[in-house]
Amino acid sequence: MNKRLLLLVSMLLLGAVFNANAQQPIVIKFSHVVARDTPKGMAAERFKELAEQRTAGKVKVEVYPNSQLYKDGEEMEALQLGAVQMLAPSMSKFGPMGLPQFELFDLPYIFPNRDVLHKVTQGSVGRDLFKLLEPKGIVGLAYWDNGFKMMSANKPLRMPADYKGLKMRIKSSKVLEAQMRALGVQPQVMAFSEVYQAMQTGVVDGSENSLPNFYTQKFFEVQKYLSLTAHGYDGYAVIVNKAFWDGLPANIRATLEKAMQEASDYENELSLKENQDDIGKIKASGRCEVIALTDAEQAALRKALVPVQKEMAPRIGAKWIEAVQKEAAALGYKD
Ligand code: LMR
Repeated sequence: MNKRLLLLVSMLLLGAVFNANAQQPIVIKFSHVVARDTPKGMAAERFKELAEQRTAGKVKVEVYPNSQLYKDGEEMEALQLGAVQMLAPSMSKFGPMGLPQFELFDLPYIFPNRDVLHKVTQGSVGRDLFKLLEPKGIVGLAYWDNGFKMMSANKPLRMPADYKGLKMRIKSSKVLEAQMRALGVQPQVMAFSEVYQAMQTGVVDGSENSLPNFYTQKFFEVQKYLSLTAHGYDGYAVIVNKAFWDGLPANIRATLEKAMQEASDYENELSLKENQDDIGKIKASGRCEVIALTDAEQAALRKALVPVQKEMAPRIGAKWIEAVQKEAAALGYKD
Protein backbone atom coordinates (compact mmCIF):
# COMPACT_ATOMS: atom_id res chain seq x y z
CA MET A 1 0.00 0.00 0.00
CA ASN A 2 1.41 3.37 -0.84
CA LYS A 3 1.51 6.12 1.76
CA ARG A 4 -1.51 8.06 0.45
CA LEU A 5 -3.66 4.97 0.38
CA LEU A 6 -2.54 4.05 3.89
CA LEU A 7 -3.45 7.53 5.11
CA LEU A 8 -6.85 7.29 3.46
CA VAL A 9 -7.57 3.87 4.97
CA SER A 10 -6.56 5.01 8.44
CA MET A 11 -8.70 8.13 8.13
CA LEU A 12 -11.67 6.01 7.12
CA LEU A 13 -11.07 3.66 10.04
CA LEU A 14 -10.79 6.56 12.46
CA GLY A 15 -14.02 7.98 11.06
CA ALA A 16 -15.75 4.67 11.64
CA VAL A 17 -14.57 4.61 15.26
CA PHE A 18 -15.84 8.16 15.88
CA ASN A 19 -19.11 7.33 14.25
CA ALA A 20 -19.56 4.25 16.43
CA ASN A 21 -18.79 6.35 19.51
CA ALA A 22 -21.25 9.01 18.44
CA GLN A 23 -23.97 6.39 18.36
CA GLN A 24 -23.16 4.98 21.79
CA PRO A 25 -25.72 6.30 24.27
CA ILE A 26 -24.53 8.44 27.16
CA VAL A 27 -24.98 6.23 30.21
CA ILE A 28 -26.11 7.61 33.57
CA LYS A 29 -25.74 5.14 36.39
CA PHE A 30 -28.18 6.22 39.13
CA SER A 31 -27.53 4.38 42.37
CA HIS A 32 -29.65 4.50 45.51
CA VAL A 33 -30.18 2.54 48.71
CA VAL A 34 -33.96 2.23 49.07
CA ALA A 35 -36.56 -0.08 47.54
CA ARG A 36 -37.85 0.49 44.01
CA ASP A 37 -41.40 1.08 45.27
CA THR A 38 -40.51 4.07 47.45
CA PRO A 39 -41.02 7.68 46.35
CA LYS A 40 -37.28 7.94 45.59
CA GLY A 41 -37.20 4.61 43.77
CA MET A 42 -40.24 5.43 41.65
CA ALA A 43 -39.01 8.93 40.82
CA ALA A 44 -35.64 7.56 39.72
CA GLU A 45 -37.57 5.30 37.32
CA ARG A 46 -39.66 8.26 36.13
CA PHE A 47 -36.50 10.25 35.46
CA LYS A 48 -35.10 7.33 33.47
CA GLU A 49 -38.27 7.07 31.39
CA LEU A 50 -38.42 10.80 30.64
CA ALA A 51 -34.69 11.16 29.98
CA GLU A 52 -34.56 8.23 27.56
CA GLN A 53 -37.75 9.23 25.75
CA ARG A 54 -36.92 12.92 25.37
CA THR A 55 -33.36 12.35 24.18
CA ALA A 56 -34.61 9.69 21.76
CA GLY A 57 -32.29 7.12 23.28
CA LYS A 58 -29.16 9.30 23.26
CA VAL A 59 -29.15 8.97 27.03
CA LYS A 60 -29.53 5.67 28.84
CA VAL A 61 -30.27 5.74 32.57
CA GLU A 62 -29.47 2.63 34.57
CA VAL A 63 -31.13 2.69 37.99
CA TYR A 64 -29.62 0.51 40.72
CA PRO A 65 -31.93 0.40 43.79
CA ASN A 66 -31.56 -1.21 47.21
CA SER A 67 -27.80 -0.64 47.73
CA GLN A 68 -27.28 -3.14 44.88
CA LEU A 69 -24.27 -1.26 43.59
CA TYR A 70 -23.08 0.82 46.55
CA LYS A 71 -24.12 1.11 50.18
CA ASP A 72 -24.39 4.50 51.73
CA GLY A 73 -20.94 5.42 52.90
CA GLU A 74 -19.57 4.11 49.60
CA GLU A 75 -21.81 5.84 47.10
CA MET A 76 -20.51 9.40 47.59
CA GLU A 77 -16.99 8.32 46.76
CA ALA A 78 -18.23 6.35 43.77
CA LEU A 79 -19.93 9.50 42.49
CA GLN A 80 -16.85 11.66 42.95
CA LEU A 81 -14.70 9.06 41.18
CA GLY A 82 -17.21 8.88 38.32
CA ALA A 83 -18.06 5.18 38.89
CA VAL A 84 -21.69 6.33 39.01
CA GLN A 85 -23.06 9.60 37.70
CA MET A 86 -26.15 10.24 39.83
CA LEU A 87 -27.30 9.67 43.41
CA ALA A 88 -30.06 10.85 45.71
CA PRO A 89 -28.65 10.48 49.23
CA SER A 90 -30.37 11.62 52.35
CA MET A 91 -29.08 15.02 53.40
CA SER A 92 -27.80 13.43 56.62
CA LYS A 93 -25.09 11.77 54.57
CA PHE A 94 -23.12 14.85 53.50
CA GLY A 95 -21.41 15.43 56.86
CA PRO A 96 -18.68 12.81 56.39
CA MET A 97 -17.59 14.49 53.12
CA GLY A 98 -17.00 17.75 54.99
CA LEU A 99 -20.39 19.39 54.47
CA PRO A 100 -22.05 19.56 57.92
CA GLN A 101 -24.27 22.41 56.66
CA PHE A 102 -26.60 19.81 55.17
CA GLU A 103 -27.24 18.47 58.68
CA LEU A 104 -29.47 21.52 59.01
CA PHE A 105 -32.23 19.25 57.77
CA ASP A 106 -31.61 16.80 60.63
CA LEU A 107 -32.32 19.31 63.38
CA PRO A 108 -35.32 18.16 65.40
CA TYR A 109 -38.44 20.31 64.99
CA ILE A 110 -36.73 22.83 62.68
CA PHE A 111 -39.45 22.52 60.00
CA PRO A 112 -43.00 23.03 61.29
CA ASN A 113 -44.36 21.49 58.09
CA ARG A 114 -43.75 20.79 54.39
CA ASP A 115 -44.59 24.33 53.30
CA VAL A 116 -41.71 25.79 55.27
CA LEU A 117 -39.46 23.00 54.15
CA HIS A 118 -40.27 23.64 50.50
CA LYS A 119 -39.69 27.39 50.89
CA VAL A 120 -36.24 26.48 52.17
CA THR A 121 -35.33 23.91 49.54
CA GLN A 122 -36.81 25.86 46.63
CA GLY A 123 -35.38 29.21 47.73
CA SER A 124 -32.00 30.79 48.39
CA VAL A 125 -31.06 28.36 51.21
CA GLY A 126 -31.48 25.41 48.87
CA ARG A 127 -29.47 27.13 46.12
CA ASP A 128 -26.69 28.21 48.50
CA LEU A 129 -26.38 24.70 49.90
CA PHE A 130 -25.99 23.34 46.38
CA LYS A 131 -23.15 25.82 45.76
CA LEU A 132 -21.20 24.11 48.55
CA LEU A 133 -21.20 20.92 46.50
CA GLU A 134 -19.34 22.29 43.49
CA PRO A 135 -15.82 22.34 45.00
CA LYS A 136 -16.40 18.66 45.79
CA GLY A 137 -16.96 17.94 42.10
CA ILE A 138 -20.72 17.59 42.53
CA VAL A 139 -23.72 19.47 41.13
CA GLY A 140 -27.04 19.53 43.01
CA LEU A 141 -30.04 19.07 40.73
CA ALA A 142 -33.10 18.80 42.98
CA TYR A 143 -34.48 18.20 46.44
CA TRP A 144 -36.75 15.22 46.93
CA ASP A 145 -38.91 14.61 49.99
CA ASN A 146 -38.78 11.45 52.00
CA GLY A 147 -40.92 12.48 54.94
CA PHE A 148 -41.07 13.28 58.61
CA LYS A 149 -39.39 10.64 60.73
CA MET A 150 -40.94 8.37 63.33
CA MET A 151 -39.25 6.55 66.20
CA SER A 152 -39.54 2.79 66.54
CA ALA A 153 -38.44 0.13 69.05
CA ASN A 154 -39.61 -3.05 70.68
CA LYS A 155 -41.09 -1.09 73.55
CA PRO A 156 -43.61 1.74 73.38
CA LEU A 157 -41.88 5.12 73.08
CA ARG A 158 -44.07 7.86 74.48
CA MET A 159 -42.13 10.01 76.92
CA PRO A 160 -38.43 10.97 76.66
CA ALA A 161 -37.63 8.68 79.60
CA ASP A 162 -38.77 5.66 77.54
CA TYR A 163 -35.74 6.06 75.27
CA LYS A 164 -33.11 5.94 77.99
CA GLY A 165 -30.45 3.28 77.49
CA LEU A 166 -31.72 2.06 74.09
CA LYS A 167 -29.33 1.45 71.20
CA MET A 168 -30.73 3.10 68.13
CA ARG A 169 -29.50 3.17 64.56
CA ILE A 170 -28.82 6.57 63.03
CA LYS A 171 -27.48 7.84 59.73
CA SER A 172 -23.98 9.32 59.62
CA SER A 173 -24.95 12.71 61.07
CA LYS A 174 -23.57 14.43 64.15
CA VAL A 175 -26.90 16.19 64.61
CA LEU A 176 -28.72 12.88 64.79
CA GLU A 177 -26.10 11.69 67.23
CA ALA A 178 -26.77 14.72 69.46
CA GLN A 179 -30.51 14.23 69.09
CA MET A 180 -30.29 10.63 70.30
CA ARG A 181 -27.93 11.52 73.13
CA ALA A 182 -30.42 14.15 74.30
CA LEU A 183 -32.80 11.23 74.89
CA GLY A 184 -30.22 9.08 76.67
CA VAL A 185 -29.95 6.79 73.64
CA GLN A 186 -26.71 5.15 72.48
CA PRO A 187 -26.64 6.05 68.79
CA GLN A 188 -25.20 3.53 66.33
CA VAL A 189 -24.20 4.79 62.89
CA MET A 190 -25.08 2.11 60.37
CA ALA A 191 -25.68 1.76 56.64
CA PHE A 192 -29.33 1.59 55.66
CA SER A 193 -28.91 -1.85 54.10
CA GLU A 194 -27.88 -3.31 57.45
CA VAL A 195 -30.72 -1.98 59.59
CA TYR A 196 -33.26 -4.79 59.21
CA GLN A 197 -30.80 -7.44 60.30
CA ALA A 198 -29.49 -5.30 63.14
CA MET A 199 -33.04 -4.96 64.43
CA GLN A 200 -33.72 -8.65 63.96
CA THR A 201 -30.62 -9.75 65.84
CA GLY A 202 -30.87 -7.12 68.55
CA VAL A 203 -27.71 -5.26 67.53
CA VAL A 204 -29.96 -2.21 67.77
CA ASP A 205 -33.18 -1.80 69.73
CA GLY A 206 -34.73 0.76 67.47
CA SER A 207 -34.36 3.49 64.91
CA GLU A 208 -35.94 6.53 63.34
CA ASN A 209 -37.08 6.65 59.75
CA SER A 210 -39.71 7.85 57.34
CA LEU A 211 -42.89 5.82 56.93
CA PRO A 212 -42.12 4.76 53.32
CA ASN A 213 -38.73 3.41 54.41
CA PHE A 214 -40.20 1.73 57.49
CA TYR A 215 -42.85 0.05 55.39
CA THR A 216 -40.84 -0.96 52.30
CA GLN A 217 -37.93 -2.33 54.36
CA LYS A 218 -40.45 -4.33 56.41
CA PHE A 219 -39.15 -2.91 59.67
CA PHE A 220 -42.65 -3.66 61.04
CA GLU A 221 -41.57 -7.34 61.14
CA VAL A 222 -38.75 -6.57 63.58
CA GLN A 223 -40.05 -3.59 65.57
CA LYS A 224 -43.06 -4.01 67.82
CA TYR A 225 -43.90 -0.32 68.19
CA LEU A 226 -43.85 2.71 65.95
CA SER A 227 -44.49 6.12 67.54
CA LEU A 228 -45.82 8.87 65.31
CA THR A 229 -43.33 11.44 66.59
CA ALA A 230 -42.63 13.36 63.35
CA HIS A 231 -39.79 14.97 65.30
CA GLY A 232 -37.57 15.60 62.31
CA TYR A 233 -37.40 15.56 58.55
CA ASP A 234 -35.63 13.32 56.09
CA GLY A 235 -35.14 14.26 52.47
CA TYR A 236 -32.78 13.86 49.57
CA ALA A 237 -30.50 15.89 47.37
CA VAL A 238 -30.32 14.56 43.82
CA ILE A 239 -26.71 15.03 42.82
CA VAL A 240 -24.60 14.42 39.75
CA ASN A 241 -20.87 14.18 39.01
CA LYS A 242 -19.86 17.70 37.93
CA ALA A 243 -17.28 16.77 35.28
CA PHE A 244 -19.81 14.45 33.66
CA TRP A 245 -22.61 17.02 33.83
CA ASP A 246 -20.51 19.90 32.50
CA GLY A 247 -19.24 17.67 29.71
CA LEU A 248 -22.72 16.94 28.32
CA PRO A 249 -23.87 18.68 25.12
CA ALA A 250 -25.91 21.73 26.22
CA ASN A 251 -29.15 20.54 24.58
CA ILE A 252 -28.93 17.15 26.30
CA ARG A 253 -28.26 18.81 29.66
CA ALA A 254 -31.27 21.09 29.22
CA THR A 255 -33.48 18.12 28.35
CA LEU A 256 -32.27 16.23 31.42
CA GLU A 257 -32.87 19.26 33.64
CA LYS A 258 -36.46 19.40 32.45
CA ALA A 259 -36.90 15.65 32.98
CA MET A 260 -35.49 16.05 36.49
CA GLN A 261 -37.96 18.85 37.28
CA GLU A 262 -40.86 16.66 36.27
CA ALA A 263 -39.52 13.64 38.14
CA SER A 264 -39.09 15.87 41.21
CA ASP A 265 -42.70 17.09 41.12
CA TYR A 266 -43.80 13.48 40.83
CA GLU A 267 -41.55 12.43 43.73
CA ASN A 268 -42.83 15.13 46.06
CA GLU A 269 -46.48 14.31 45.35
CA LEU A 270 -45.87 10.60 45.69
CA SER A 271 -44.05 10.98 48.98
CA LEU A 272 -46.96 12.95 50.42
CA LYS A 273 -49.37 10.22 49.39
CA GLU A 274 -47.19 7.32 50.54
CA ASN A 275 -46.59 8.93 53.93
CA GLN A 276 -50.37 9.14 54.35
CA ASP A 277 -51.05 5.59 53.15
CA ASP A 278 -48.23 3.83 54.97
CA ILE A 279 -49.69 4.18 58.48
CA GLY A 280 -52.67 2.07 57.39
CA LYS A 281 -50.42 -0.47 55.68
CA ILE A 282 -48.19 -0.81 58.74
CA LYS A 283 -51.23 -1.27 60.97
CA ALA A 284 -52.65 -3.82 58.54
CA SER A 285 -49.49 -5.92 58.87
CA GLY A 286 -50.70 -6.77 62.37
CA ARG A 287 -47.05 -6.98 63.45
CA CYS A 288 -46.39 -3.51 64.79
CA GLU A 289 -48.45 -1.26 67.03
CA VAL A 290 -48.70 2.32 65.81
CA ILE A 291 -48.74 4.82 68.68
CA ALA A 292 -50.18 8.32 68.31
CA LEU A 293 -48.64 10.60 70.93
CA THR A 294 -50.83 12.74 73.14
CA ASP A 295 -50.23 16.50 73.10
CA ALA A 296 -48.43 16.24 76.44
CA GLU A 297 -46.15 13.46 75.15
CA GLN A 298 -45.41 15.38 71.99
CA ALA A 299 -44.62 18.51 74.04
CA ALA A 300 -42.27 16.55 76.31
CA LEU A 301 -40.36 15.13 73.34
CA ARG A 302 -40.13 18.56 71.80
CA LYS A 303 -38.81 20.04 75.02
CA ALA A 304 -36.11 17.36 75.19
CA LEU A 305 -35.04 17.77 71.57
CA VAL A 306 -35.33 21.45 70.63
CA PRO A 307 -32.12 22.38 72.55
CA VAL A 308 -30.21 20.31 69.98
CA GLN A 309 -30.80 23.17 67.52
CA LYS A 310 -28.70 25.51 69.65
CA GLU A 311 -26.15 22.89 70.57
CA MET A 312 -25.47 22.09 66.92
CA ALA A 313 -25.52 25.67 65.60
CA PRO A 314 -21.71 26.03 65.70
CA ARG A 315 -21.31 22.87 63.61
CA ILE A 316 -23.93 23.71 61.01
CA GLY A 317 -23.52 27.49 60.98
CA ALA A 318 -26.06 29.67 62.80
CA LYS A 319 -26.87 31.58 59.59
CA TRP A 320 -28.46 28.51 58.02
CA ILE A 321 -30.66 27.92 61.06
CA GLU A 322 -31.67 31.58 61.16
CA ALA A 323 -32.52 31.46 57.45
CA VAL A 324 -34.92 28.58 58.09
CA GLN A 325 -36.46 30.39 61.06
CA LYS A 326 -36.96 33.43 58.86
CA GLU A 327 -38.79 31.40 56.22
CA ALA A 328 -40.95 29.84 58.97
CA ALA A 329 -41.77 33.26 60.42
CA ALA A 330 -42.65 34.59 56.96
CA LEU A 331 -45.23 31.82 56.73
CA GLY A 332 -46.57 32.68 60.17
CA TYR A 333 -44.80 30.04 62.27
CA LYS A 334 -43.00 30.94 65.47
CA ASP A 335 -41.19 28.61 67.83
C1 LMR B 1 -31.56 5.91 55.78
O1 LMR B 1 -30.35 5.63 55.70
O2 LMR B 1 -32.27 5.65 56.75
C2 LMR B 1 -32.19 6.64 54.65
O3 LMR B 1 -31.43 7.76 54.36
C3 LMR B 1 -32.26 5.78 53.43
C4 LMR B 1 -32.82 6.59 52.31
O4 LMR B 1 -32.09 6.87 51.37
O5 LMR B 1 -34.00 6.94 52.41
